[in-house]
Amino acid sequence: MILNQTSTLANGVAIPRLGFGTWMIPNDDAARAVGEAIGVGYRHIDTAQAYDNEAGVGEGLRASGVARDQLFVTTKLVAESKSHADAAARIDGSLQALGLDQIDLMLIHSPQPWAEFREGDRHFEGNLEAWRALEDAYRAGKLRAIGVSNFERVDLENLSRNGSIAPMVDQVMAHVGDTPFDLIDYAQSQDILVQAYSPVAHGAVLKDARLAEMAGRYGVSVAQLCIRYCLQLGLAPLPKTSNVAHMRENAAVDFTITDADMATLRQTRDADYGEASAFPVFGKKRQADTNDAEG
Ligand SMILES: NC(=O)c1ccc[n+]([C@@H]2O[C@H](COP(=O)([O-])OP(=O)(O)OC[C@H]3O[C@@H](n4cnc5c(N)ncnc54)[C@H](OP(=O)(O)O)[C@@H]3O)[C@@H](O)[C@H]2O)c1
Repeated sequence: MILNQTSTLANGVAIPRLGFGTWMIPNDDAARAVGEAIGVGYRHIDTAQAYDNEAGVGEGLRASGVARDQLFVTTKLVAESKSHADAAARIDGSLQALGLDQIDLMLIHSPQPWAEFREGDRHFEGNLEAWRALEDAYRAGKLRAIGVSNFERVDLENLSRNGSIAPMVDQVMAHVGDTPFDLIDYAQSQDILVQAYSPVAHGAVLKDARLAEMAGRYGVSVAQLCIRYCLQLGLAPLPKTSNVAHMRENAAVDFTITDADMATLRQTRDADYGEASAFPVFGKKRQADTNDAEG
C-alpha cells in the first residue's frame, strides 16, 4: 500500500512517498484535516509558513496520538526570506508555530519572492544566505533534511556548487498536462527527490474527458490516475484535500498504468487551470497579492 512506502533521501532519511498537502486549508480547520488524514494513514504532512496554518497542523499532529517518529512534517521558508539572519529567525518561528523540537524537512519555498516569480533576478546570493541558515539548522539538529521548491536547474546548481550540503528535495509543480521532464531528469540524476505539488492540477484536470476515459479503463478516478502517474515517474506526490473521502481515494492507487498509457499521459500538454491561472505557480507569474495565492 502506497501509504506504507518510503523513499530514501540523499542523507539516508526515509520520507513517505505520498504526502498530504495543506495549502488553502485554513489554520482553524487544519487540525481537523490533518487528524483525518493521519486517521486514513497518511504519515507525511506538507505545510508552509505562507499557508498560515502551521499552528493548526501542529495541533493535528499532537492530537492524532501517532508517535512523533512515525510522522513526517515538511514546511517551507517564505519565498521573500533571502538573508541568513531572517531565515534563521523564521526557522525557529516554524518550530515554535508547529510546536515541534525538530522539523523533518524544510524547503526554500521559491528561488524568487512571489512578486518576481520567474522574472530575471535569480537571487543567487539571497538563496545562498537562506540555504546556509537551513544548513546551520540541519547541523544543529533542528531539521532532519533540507531542500528547495520551485527551483530550476540553475537555481539548484547555485546551491550545490556554492553551499556545503546539496539540496535533498526539489518540490515542483508536476501533473498530467504540465510535467517538467528535463528538470526531473536532472534532479533525479543528482539524487534529489522530486516532490510533485498540485498532482491533480489544483482540480483543473478532474473533468478532462480524455483522462476520464482512461481512468475508467482502470476502474479508478481521474484523481487516482493523476496521482499514480506521478508515482510511476518516480515523483513523490502531495495531493491536497479537505474531504476525508478524497483522502482515502487519493491513497488507493495500487494499480499500474501501462507503458502505452504513460506515454499518452506524458505527451499531454494542454493543462487549463481555469480560475487558478491567477496564482503564480499556475500562471507562472504573480497576479494576486494575497497570502493564499502562494502555493
Ligand atoms: N511548493 C509550492 O510552491 C506549492 C504550490 C502549490 C501546492 N503545493 C503543495 O501541494 C499541495 C497540493 O497542491 P494543490 O493544493 O495546488 O492542488 P491539488 O492537490 O492538485 O488539488 C487540490 C484540489 O483538488 C481537489 N481534490 C483533491 N483530491 C480530489 C479527489 N479525489 N476528488 C475530487 N477532487 C479532489 C481538492 O478539493 P477538496 O479539498 O474538495 O477535495 C482541491 O480543490 C498543496 O496543498 C501544497 O501542500 C506546493
